[in-house]
Amino acid sequence: MSSTPIGIHDISFATTSLVLDLGVIATRMGIDPQKYYSGIGQVEMSVPARDEDIVTLAANAALPIVERHGRDRIRTVIVATETGIDQSKAAAVYVHRLLGLGENCRAVEFKQACYSATAALQFAAAMVQRDPQQQVLVIATDVARYDLQSSGEPTQGAGAAAMLVAADPAIIALEPVTGLYTEDIMDFWRPNHRDTALVDGKTSIRAYLHAIEHAWQDAQRQGAPGFEQIDYFCYHQPFTVMAVKAHRHLVKIAAAAASSAQVDAVLEPSLIYNRQVGNSYTASMYIALVSLLDNVAQLDGKRIAFLSYGSGCVAEIFTGVVQPGYASHLRTAAHAAALQGRTAIDDADYLARHAQTQPTDAGAHPAPHETTGHFRYAGLSGNKRLYEATPARSDSAS
Ligand code: CAA
Repeated sequence: MSSTPIGIHDISFATTSLVLDLGVIATRMGIDPQKYYSGIGQVEMSVPARDEDIVTLAANAALPIVERHGRDRIRTVIVATETGIDQSKAAAVYVHRLLGLGENCRAVEFKQACYSATAALQFAAAMVQRDPQQQVLVIATDVARYDLQSSGEPTQGAGAAAMLVAADPAIIALEPVTGLYTEDIMDFWRPNHRDTALVDGKTSIRAYLHAIEHAWQDAQRQGAPGFEQIDYFCYHQPFTVMAVKAHRHLVKIAAAAASSAQVDAVLEPSLIYNRQVGNSYTASMYIALVSLLDNVAQLDGKRIAFLSYGSGCVAEIFTGVVQPGYASHLRTAAHAAALQGRTAIDDADYLARHAQTQPTDAGAHPAPHETTGHFRYAGLSGNKRLYEATPARSDSAS
């Protein structure tokens, strides 16, 4: 076995062009906005424009990575999502074309609720271990959608995180030991005929805590670093208070000593972006990582634990060590611009967008140009989804 470190060589995130303040939903529902702002820890949620979806989010997140590192060594692109746009064709194939990746590259989609990007990362690390010259592009991308007036409505959102997995990584070296847990449970799911998820909210919270507990115990049996050897914790964040609940639970089962202030201090930097993006399902833990990297100085040599949960359910816990000099590879200004550049919408606009469904006939259904991103969903024609670079991008590229 090779001892070359393998891990995250670059990471970038993208979100939508629109944003909704959760106070708008609270006002419509006639409840105290503090229930959202502090009770579940969500301030805003990203809302897709009519020409944005998981493919455009994924391509927007990954474009800066391929522009920085080139495309030649990428022989695999994995798109992880639970917002599938086709029952057969992988979203990764569309993303592959939009990014201009070479034809000698495999493209595939992974699914297991909010966990799938973690599976993709582990598969990617194994592929790079087999051939350290190759790089794998892993992109987590999701649009979280629940029914209006449901308890899940304030926990929607959308975003994508792209990672280049490589040998001798510039940002995070993954450690090999992981803890695993799988159980067949119906806490959250989306049947094929629905475009909104079904969830039993309270069951899902209990299932998340149970799965993390069992994955942690497995990790410890496998020889993973103990609680006291970990500097920061990045959780899946369907809403940011969930990470706080999970960390308090972990402190208890690890029999660790941590005051509330210590829990807050260790988690807070990882919560900043997701409070504004909302739930991005499988991208959320990786957006939490970006938030941590962008908002804490001098993480060199620090060990981060990743606690990944996907309803249904699968959990995996693993660790990684931040590499010396990582800070010069971050994209903090671009991430701030992505969040600040979103246009606020009102409730009527949000409700109209939420009510919109995909046409089911074979006619031409062009999408209006709304996105501020580099790529857009141009519409549906003959039952085929059409994607293109935005005119500004095409002009600058030509
Ligand atoms: N001011 C401050 N806090 C307030 C408040 C106020 N005015 N009113 C209520 N709160 C607090 C409550 O006390 C509660 O805090 P605790 O959890 O600490 O008790 C919190 O706000 C939420 O209140 P409720 O429990 O009454 O909220 P709810 O029943 O409306 O729903 C939810 C909360 C279950 C998370 C719901 O948003 C939901 O179903 N979300 C979707 C499911 C989900 O995200 N599950 C997470 C685990 S599953 C997973 O992780 C996979 C995935 O991505 C979906």
